[in-house]
Amino acid sequence: MSRRTRGSRRVPNQPAERPEQRTQAPRPSLGEQWEGANLPARALLPLRFFFGATFLYAGVDKLVDPAFFSASNPASIVSQLAAFARVSPLAFLIKPLEPFAVPIGILIALAELAIGLGAITGLAFRMAAAGGAAVSLLFWLTASWATRPYYYGPDLPYAFGWLALAIAGTSDLWVPESVKRLGAPTEGGPPRYLETEPSPTRRAMIQVGVLGAIALVTASLAVPLRFLRRDDAGAIADASAPPTNGGATPMPGQPTPTLTPSATSTPAGATAAPFKPSGLTVASIAQVDARGAVRILVPANAPSSLPAGDPGVIVKLKDGSYAAYDALCTHEGCRVGWDAADGVLLCPCHGAAFDPNAHAAVLQGPTNTPLLELPIVVDHAAGTITLRA
Ligand code: FES
Repeated sequence: MSRRTRGSRRVPNQPAERPEQRTQAPRPSLGEQWEGANLPARALLPLRFFFGATFLYAGVDKLVDPAFFSASNPASIVSQLAAFARVSPLAFLIKPLEPFAVPIGILIALAELAIGLGAITGLAFRMAAAGGAAVSLLFWLTASWATRPYYYGPDLPYAFGWLALAIAGTSDLWVPESVKRLGAPTEGGPPRYLETEPSPTRRAMIQVGVLGAIALVTASLAVPLRFLRRDDAGAIADASAPPTNGGATPMPGQPTPTLTPSATSTPAGATAAPFKPSGLTVASIAQVDARGAVRILVPANAPSSLPAGDPGVIVKLKDGSYAAYDALCTHEGCRVGWDAADGVLLCPCHGAAFDPNAHAAVLQGPTNTPLLELPIVVDHAAGTITLRA
């Protein structure tokens, strides 16, 4: 049977072959595919499935995690973009995008889903692998940029691994028949839904379209699972948020605090007015006492010795005094969170831990540098905590 040329149409009046006339080659088993594949295709198979599963998991994990989209969480895309805008060489591009952090987070999750699904199924495989290389390169220029030495960062090896997969392709090894045939010409002519045999570009577009649709369906199935996860890991209450129960509710894992007698102490059962930071007065003693730690923002009019605009954290120490720290991790600039159970400041990005009772000394790397301590004045009479110049 002569093959049709690309773009040709059926000759009018020539009856199309009936399906039963087409000869179906027997489908090779997985073992036969393995035996028939070349060595590079076999060698890259573990990489393909590991990368595919990891990106698929990363995409789903972001979509089902409420903390990822919660601005108050130090692990959120909002906090991460703010950190990238400080350390990345792409800061000039990231800064204007900060207000769109949530849609960007959704796009990243969808891209990871599509890349993972493409790698596993073989759908639009080379494009998916090239997309994996591009996304990993982007992560290297942002999330891993400050990692020293560079080989501690995971994103550059991912980028080169994806590049190898994009160059090699799948060689049709362990690719479902339905994927191989998608948009491909058949023995009897073009696919039923096309009038002409599709060009390679059109085939690629069909595969990308199907891959995108599957990724969207997967995302829509994953999102309802968000109710299984809670957004409380590492979150610190904002200093301007009113404490509940008159300021007497402890953070999880903390003993019930004894409020320091002060002008702002609120009788039990009364609702405390939200604290309004003013000038360099950034928190009320009552709120730090109630929560163990509160989040502040170093005011724009802070003296030049302070990191104006940075998030900070004020912690009540074991001896009853208070300490304030710049909340940006000294590793790559993620925002640290308060672990009330262990009484430490934890970085959600790579696990660095700092001891607030020892001037934020490093308890656990990858950084060796303590958090920057912010000088404060505690006014018990006024019930306020003020940054000192
Ligand atoms: Fe890496 Fe904090 S940014 S440990």
